[in-house]
Amino acid sequence: MCGIVGFTGPQSAAPILLQGLKALEYRGYDSAGVAVMDGGSIRLEKVSGRIANLCEKTRDGQAVPGCTGIGHTRWATHGAPTDINAHPHLSNDGRFAVVHNGIIENFASLRDELTQKGYSFVSETDTEVVVHLIEMYYRGNLKTAVMKTVSRLEGSYALGIVCTDYPDTLFAVRQASPLILGIGAGENFFASDVTALVAHTKNCIYLDDGELAELSPESVKVYDCAGQEIKKSVNRITWDLEAAEKGGYEHFMLKEIMEQPAAVKSALTPRIKNGEIVLDDFDPDGSLLRGVSRIVITACGSAYYAGCAGRYAIERLSRIPVTTVLASELRYDDPIIDDGTLLIVLSQSGETADTIAAMKECKRRGASTLAIVNVVGSTIAKMADHTLYTYAGPEIAVATTKGYTTQLAVLFLFALYAARKLGRIEDAQYRALLRQLKELPKKIQQAIDMAHSTEKLAQKVHKAPSLFFIGRNTDYAVALEGALKMKEISYVHAESYAAGELKHGTIALIVEGQPVIAVCCNEKLSEKTMSNIIEVKARGAKVLSVAVQGNRQIFSVADDVVCIPPTEQLFTPLLAVIPMQLLAYYTAKANGRDIDKPRNLAKSVTVE
Ligand code: G6P
Repeated sequence: MCGIVGFTGPQSAAPILLQGLKALEYRGYDSAGVAVMDGGSIRLEKVSGRIANLCEKTRDGQAVPGCTGIGHTRWATHGAPTDINAHPHLSNDGRFAVVHNGIIENFASLRDELTQKGYSFVSETDTEVVVHLIEMYYRGNLKTAVMKTVSRLEGSYALGIVCTDYPDTLFAVRQASPLILGIGAGENFFASDVTALVAHTKNCIYLDDGELAELSPESVKVYDCAGQEIKKSVNRITWDLEAAEKGGYEHFMLKEIMEQPAAVKSALTPRIKNGEIVLDDFDPDGSLLRGVSRIVITACGSAYYAGCAGRYAIERLSRIPVTTVLASELRYDDPIIDDGTLLIVLSQSGETADTIAAMKECKRRGASTLAIVNVVGSTIAKMADHTLYTYAGPEIAVATTKGYTTQLAVLFLFALYAARKLGRIEDAQYRALLRQLKELPKKIQQAIDMAHSTEKLAQKVHKAPSLFFIGRNTDYAVALEGALKMKEISYVHAESYAAGELKHGTIALIVEGQPVIAVCCNEKLSEKTMSNIIEVKARGAKVLSVAVQGNRQIFSVADDVVCIPPTEQLFTPLLAVIPMQLLAYYTAKANGRDIDKPRNLAKSVTVE
């Protein structure tokens, strides 16, 4: 969702900006543009649609001279995805150009004020108020004008600004939207995330809310919200360029599915030391956990479903009551949260606006916060009292796969850790479960191998107008994620139901030939789910079941079966989700979809 890049250095800026924008494509967008300082003026190029159109229009940037510039991919919020609404936006006097990620909530009143003062607007965007405010406040000092401007803004923003009076300088400022500075040799950058920087530098500075940066080829200065220069530490990016490329796979999504054994291993291995779980610096003596009366898990999308699947392990093993709440709901609720609550926040990107808002609300009410996040230095990671990184590496496909499984792996570690610290698990069981946990990466690989038939099975479902996903308990959590994945990338309508709920309504929709995907991996409940399979089959459904290897009965009940290797029942979601991901992938492929960038979706949802 909206990507920002900026470059200043000795080389031609436009090709570098376009390359950076391509690296940010995965975030989701519907128009793109660049603004480059060309002598005493600003050259602006912007188009609706793909970056490829912008590359064509500018001959890969060659047609836009100049060595300092800003670029943007826009995911439309205010106004349609047209050339005019695309960023950058120019001031009326042509002296300033601005790119923006986020939402200016008070833009309507600012627009009225500026219109009355004679400024003319050309776009429907909220962003345009920013560039006119800068022009209005500018008296020869850009830093002062930017500070005055942001003091008028309500909402969220990461802004990149250039001005003709500062031909080799970039200004950047952030408030509740991601922005990172890239520190090079004789050249400097900014970007929404590190994927746009790794091709050039591995040294970066994470800007905090309210901070303003001034970058020239030779220097990087950061100021606090009062305008005082501050010292920021330079961090090292651990991802390399290769990790953000397709590596021979047709799609990032398939590559990321295949990376899951290694990704889950990276999440688990550093945290299992000499037969004990060590959750980085989280609660080494168990005192925090002993004061916890309730755990609330919050997140959005697949991260929420990872929470739903992980809840069973945490509650079952630690005996702490756990509830899962969608962050977009929690933020506007009046939740009963106090200092006895541990809030677990799940987020691949660490930038999801609803998740951040829910977290702020719970923190305000006294909750301790533990974030499980993939992107290092992201807003959620920095806001939380404790952060456990998932170490999944860059996830580029919009539909998450390794992001989800690594979150789940960390939740399982947490469940076992909490049970141990609270003395609620026998030593032998702890050791047995730890062994099972360590075997998960190998078993994910087996699950991938066992799911080879999903490519063929996709042919049976890809034309269906609708699919049902059913399961009970942990299997229901997997059904939720399976249906979401299917909808996101194949555009086939899919609904998930707790299998026991079928008879309370949904079974009315089962007619001859209706495909049903039944997750049947919870051994305590597999008899029950198999009864549900028989019920839907009696009404003409065609059932594909995901079951644990060794369940012989399932073959006589379902039409098709995909197996996963046996593991501890609480951990089965991590394996059962693999065939779900592959089925969605191959169904999307059979339907000719844009798998890595599904329509209307964004990877990092930084606005509400
Ligand atoms: C978007 C993505 C989903 C993701 C959700 C939460 O909707 O398309 O794949 O699950 O955001 O993102 P987060 O980065 O917070 O995990």
